[in-house]
Amino acid sequence: MRKKIVAANWKMNMTQAESARFIESLLLDLGDITDVEVVIVPPFTAIAKVTEALGKAQNIKVGAQNMYWERSGAFTGEISAALLRDLFVHYVVLGHSERRILFGETDEIVNRKVRAAHEATLRPIVCVGETLEQRDRGNVEKILSIQLRGSLKDLSEKELQETVIAYEPVWAIGTGRNATPEQAQEAHTFIRHTLREIADDATAERVRIQYGGSVKPENARELMSQPDIDGALVGGASLDPRSFAEIVKAARAEVA
Ligand code: PGA
Repeated sequence: MRKKIVAANWKMNMTQAESARFIESLLLDLGDITDVEVVIVPPFTAIAKVTEALGKAQNIKVGAQNMYWERSGAFTGEISAALLRDLFVHYVVLGHSERRILFGETDEIVNRKVRAAHEATLRPIVCVGETLEQRDRGNVEKILSIQLRGSLKDLSEKELQETVIAYEPVWAIGTGRNATPEQAQEAHTFIRHTLREIADDATAERVRIQYGGSVKPENARELMSQPDIDGALVGGASLDPRSFAEIVKAARAEVA
């Protein structure tokens, strides 16, 4: 049984004060939840504040939105996995479509980062997903297969099992237009099938696959009730503590 994982991707938002207020409100609403894994992914500048505000709520983990693959050195403006571990960060989102599209990240770059994250015992959340044009041309499976095989190259089975995949169709991100539960389940089935080919059945069964793209309190439950949807990566709706808490509760309802 895979534990659901719901992550709040704040993107380039939230000051320290706003982050502290968010966590305070979230904790009041959720308590120290244990049946769903919750991950808060603030901008680098608010990571320490979020950790401080979480205090003893150790079941809520902190993630980062990006990192560089080198361990240390002359890489002005970059952040390493070790520096993130130093801030008690557990997860790192890698290969988000905004990074792929706006910052030119290729599968090879994502793969370097994924391997460096594992080396530092940081768990990657690896994003994959097609554009609308690719979907309209019937290329969803081809694109997912290329992105998965490229981004997850040379990982051990153990590392794969500790990797989270986020299926985020680009046309659904920030558009208010989510994939239907059927469309998402179909893509997740294909992703698990590909993981089976990359590794083996047992590994593929253990990997958690989140859905991301316009997840809201109103659609979260139906999406996460699909057999291969193991949680959500939430952008816009994660900026409001009440709506994010509702989405976490929707994942919890699926556990019960
Ligand atoms: P959205 O973003 O929920 O605002 O669509 C999701 C994401 O980019 O991770």
